[in-house]
Amino acid sequence: MIKQKHFIDVDQLSLKQIEQIFSKADKYLKKPLNSSLKGKRLINLFFENSTRTRSSFEIAAKNSGAEVVNIDVSTSALKKGESEKDTILTLNAMEPDFITIRHSFGGIVKKLAEYSDRAVVVNSGDGAHAHPTQALLDAFTIYKAYKFKKITEFKKLTVAICGDVLNSRVARSNIRLLTMLGAKIHLIGPPTLLPKNMDSANLKIFYDLKEGVKGVNVIMALRIQKERMMSCFIPSISDYFKVYGITRDVLDLAKSNCILLHPGPMNRNVEIESSLAEDPKVSQVLKQVRHGVAIRQAVLELLA
Ligand code: CP
Repeated sequence: MIKQKHFIDVDQLSLKQIEQIFSKADKYLKKPLNSSLKGKRLINLFFENSTRTRSSFEIAAKNSGAEVVNIDVSTSALKKGESEKDTILTLNAMEPDFITIRHSFGGIVKKLAEYSDRAVVVNSGDGAHAHPTQALLDAFTIYKAYKFKKITEFKKLTVAICGDVLNSRVARSNIRLLTMLGAKIHLIGPPTLLPKNMDSANLKIFYDLKEGVKGVNVIMALRIQKERMMSCFIPSISDYFKVYGITRDVLDLAKSNCILLHPGPMNRNVEIESSLAEDPKVSQVLKQVRHGVAIRQAVLELLA
């Protein structure tokens, strides 16, 4: 169904396929257990830490009847010097149906996928490059919160993506997906954390948070990615929160029914006010997690 064998980013999907994924995910939210992947095997191979993505791929696969093997990289032959290439060749030789890969190096998942001629490789986040299933679950969360019936309704929305865009694979996949869906995007953050030359017909850059969130329908706060910062991008965490933290005062500038997303893990009171992140009237954070399982079930079924 997807244009290439492996799933590296959202731009491989057609609008029809996105609609199919949302429709299947909606079904799996109501009735998660089924046998669509019975007899299939999925290997989780995470070179970088994860709570949400790894466990939700496992639960998604098991909900649909597949078996799951989690590779513990810290006790694998990688620690004896085996290369990533040989790791993929070895795992692929065991004839699994899927290998989900997370890695800190942007672009490497596409390269490693070339060594897998049997298993479908699914990108679970590579460096600052892409995190396609996160973008799909984010868009699905917006779709559900606004009770959309069709994906063409995204054209009515303006989504503010705030914070460390430069280091964020979540932001990059979301920008690609929201652009495909026809939403308007405001990228907001300090000049040091916004990529250059991003302006386009549907995307505007803002260095002033209060200007950027005016009248938007969705605010997506991004984690400050300390592990990907090569040099000093912000003066201090407390200064960052004062200028770019999403607080109630900031939310009040958006549309009255604005919703708040964060991909997690959150740095509370750094990019998002702690009490706001827990406010069920606006925060979608735990719904995003719940939707992640259903979306990953739908994606695995489409790839199978
Ligand atoms: N959003 C996300 O990718 O979270 P994890 O790092 O916990 O997988």
